[in-house]
Amino acid sequence: MIEEAAKLIAKAKFLIAFTGAGISAESGVPTFRGSGGLWEKYRIEEVATPEAFRRNPKLVWEFYKMRMRKMKDAKPNKAHLTLAELEDMGILKAVITQNIDDLHREAGNKRIIELHGNIYRVKCSYCDYIENLKESGRVERFLAEKELPKCPKCSNLLRPDVVWFGESLPEKELSEAFNLARRSDVCLVIGTSGQVYPAAYIPYITKEHGGYIIEVNVNEGGITPIADVFLRGKAGEIMEELLKKVKELRK
Ligand code: OAD
Repeated sequence: MIEEAAKLIAKAKFLIAFTGAGISAESGVPTFRGSGGLWEKYRIEEVATPEAFRRNPKLVWEFYKMRMRKMKDAKPNKAHLTLAELEDMGILKAVITQNIDDLHREAGNKRIIELHGNIYRVKCSYCDYIENLKESGRVERFLAEKELPKCPKCSNLLRPDVVWFGESLPEKELSEAFNLARRSDVCLVIGTSGQVYPAAYIPYITKEHGGYIIEVNVNEGGITPIADVFLRGKAGEIMEELLKKVKELRK
């Protein structure tokens, strides 16, 4: 199984990776679905919709600050690092992620398409103000602030620059991701339940255009029916082994 996946990757002309929360699980970032997942403890309608933010911005900000703290302390794991190495080797052309944790960037990947936003970006709920707290060096100060965050330009409420349920995905990112999926001859799907659309279309588009699908996951999910190779296990462990085999084949 893993040999088959390594062969596909070693001879891929345009490999892309499509990742979800499971790739960051070994970094200590909780996933959404399943036991211990965030949606067991929190209700989507209360923390991850535009209506929830209008009704109770304090609760929504508590949820995202809690997640920012977790993500800030997390380090890229073997799976993230493997993807960075595959890009350096010239095999992997892009990472398309549903994650907002910035760990692909920290691992060293260059071409990253973030479909659901980024935890460190905040934007005004009214004007065009947008800030990356990591780049402005304000993460700690922002987290320590007790008051609701206000826009420095117009004083309206700042919100996380993430996609909430009921909102559209960023247009540029989504069309770039769909274009990459069409071009791709192998799509490596790691750690996603494949239940949230339109993101979950990505591997389906590659498949429709004649590409192969390799899935790495501890459990089967929404993408598994179209997977040509399904590798069951933890992303970090599987990806490490897979990279070793790809390197052997390319010697
Ligand atoms: P989910 O929480 O739905 O799924 C996580 C997946 O990772 C599951 O399929 C698990 O089996 C798998 N998994 C867990 N640990 C793993 C490990 N160590 N190695 C490999 N796989 C592992 O997360 P996503 O599919 O990313 O959207 O969820 C998609 C979207 O739904 C998220 O971006 C978020 C969420 O609600 C928004 O907030 C808009």
